[in-house]
Amino acid sequence: MKILLTGASGLVGAAFAAAAQRRGHHVVGVVRTSVATIPGLAEKRTLDLTENNAATGLILELFPDAIVNCAAVSEPAACDADPARAQSLNVTLPATLAKLAHHLSARLVHVSTEQVFAGDRAPYAPGDAPRPLNLYGRQKLESERLVHVAAPEFAATVRAPLLTGNSLGVVRSLHERLLADWAAGRTPRLYRDEIRQPCTAGNLAEVLLELCERPELKGVFHWAGAEALSRVELAKRIRAHFKLSAEAAPIEEANRADDPGVTARRAADLRMELKPLAGRLKTSLETFDAQLDQLVLPPAVRAWYFAS
Ligand SMILES: NC(=O)c1ccc[n+]([C@@H]2O[C@H](COP(=O)([O-])OP(=O)(O)OC[C@H]3O[C@@H](n4cnc5c(N)ncnc54)[C@H](OP(=O)(O)O)[C@@H]3O)[C@@H](O)[C@H]2O)c1
Repeated sequence: MKILLTGASGLVGAAFAAAAQRRGHHVVGVVRTSVATIPGLAEKRTLDLTENNAATGLILELFPDAIVNCAAVSEPAACDADPARAQSLNVTLPATLAKLAHHLSARLVHVSTEQVFAGDRAPYAPGDAPRPLNLYGRQKLESERLVHVAAPEFAATVRAPLLTGNSLGVVRSLHERLLADWAAGRTPRLYRDEIRQPCTAGNLAEVLLELCERPELKGVFHWAGAEALSRVELAKRIRAHFKLSAEAAPIEEANRADDPGVTARRAADLRMELKPLAGRLKTSLETFDAQLDQLVLPPAVRAWYFAS
């Protein structure tokens, strides 16, 4: 299958490229700034997908069988810092991709987020009422709506959780950020009562790939890991996995009520119901231990790590 992959250098996109190549697909990946070699890509294109007609021109040139959309402004703070750019990438681009998918009868697999929910009524099923607390969540929710209006017969959207795993740029995933903080002498402030259900980017990529291959699965789905843990528990498990002491890798524990200004825009509990996708796919849910076993020590923190 010829697959056009946007966001090919990102945490999810790079994992998708590797997974798709293992299954024999031909993947053309789009990046904006990355100069990294991305294992698994048959071809790499550098393109600003916020520019008028950039996506249209490329797709009409390639005529892909499937489009996998992993390009995004994927952090709430970055959306707040540049709402117009975030709108263009998070909302306009997926809507354009969906119109093109409909036009070409191509499969479209889009990635959304658990952050479409407010976090006060977990666990969330795909049909539960969304209520995003920040601009990022609102944009992703709007993207879902536009995608499924434009290409209801071709599109599948996966709402993904907080992601673990190893990124190409080694600063995107949970353990990479924690280790970077500790190596820089910072103490992350983490909440005991903020619950997340992470999976690795690689596990999510397998799901996106299966969805490319299973066009009968249409609509909005949830995927996450097998376990839900607090932010503090997640950090402690990562610290223990890398055999770091509490002195070398300190955590400042807090409750969400301690920081009402911060937590008003962050959901408390984002556990998700994974049916109907779980059970219908070959990809299995990952325990957090299985995720930890895949984590690599980022090169940038090696000197600090071996000295601590
Ligand atoms: N990371 C998470 O924990 C998480 C959790 C839930 C859902 N998600 C969702 O998963 C999807 C993938 O997220 P991610 O974390 O893999 O993203 P990411 O690591 O931030 O990567 C973003 C990708 O978008 C590309 N990009 C940015 N601006 C572009 C532009 N103007 N034109 C073309 N490409 C552009 C980047 O290319 P360059 O590198 O070349 O700039 C990069 O490949 C997103 O939809 C996100 O909302 C992520």
